[in-house]
Amino acid sequence: MTARAPPTVLVIMGVSGSGKTTVGKALAKRLGWTFQEGDDFHPPANIAKMKAGIPLDDADRAPWLAKVQAWISDQLAEGESGVIACSALKRTYRDALVDGRDNVILVYLSGSKALIASRLKSRRGHFMPPALLDSQLAALEAPEPLEKPIMDAIDQPIPAQIEAILHALAERLGAPMT
Ligand SMILES: Nc1ncnc2c1ncn2[C@@H]1O[C@H](COP(=O)(O)OP(=O)(O)OP(=O)(O)O)[C@@H](O)[C@H]1O
Ligand SMILES: [Mg+2]
Repeated sequence: MTARAPPTVLVIMGVSGSGKTTVGKALAKRLGWTFQEGDDFHPPANIAKMKAGIPLDDADRAPWLAKVQAWISDQLAEGESGVIACSALKRTYRDALVDGRDNVILVYLSGSKALIASRLKSRRGHFMPPALLDSQLAALEAPEPLEKPIMDAIDQPIPAQIEAILHALAERLGAPMT
């Protein structure tokens, strides 16, 4: 992108284990954009709950969502593009994050429950227990066409996922991505 192009923020969304952190980091590196882990905005009480296998409710998620929202707005206000990993499971959360802006783009990592469960099972050193997958899937409201998500299938190697996202992004922005 040229320096004059408007800044863009990609919100990498999907359930726990869909690959948000992995894909988001690789994508940000490839684009030379800032990466932010959305989970880092959870207050300690939320992390403790999730570690204990207790699903978060809307009230738990409110302070986290406000921080994610602020990060996106600050990035754009500074003229910086970025990538944030954020489950954004519900439409109301996404509407708050996108806030009608064309340059806040959802990237939805979608895959089968079996594949996600197997990735969670073999993942090490993460606070999210695999048992929370059912509650994540129950909370998930998949993005609707009106939300214009970039769809990315997770049943392919990460480099292929990145290429697919870059391709869709270039079409969306009308400019080749580096
Ligand atoms: N395309 C892929 N192929 C193989 N393994 C993958 C792929 N994508 C992600 N993984 C692996 O799946 C696991 C889950 O990925 P990751 O931790 O990035 O998910 P997440 O969406 O950030 O989860 P959480 O919401 O719990 O933070 C990791 O061990 C990661 O290395
Ligand atoms: Mg993650």
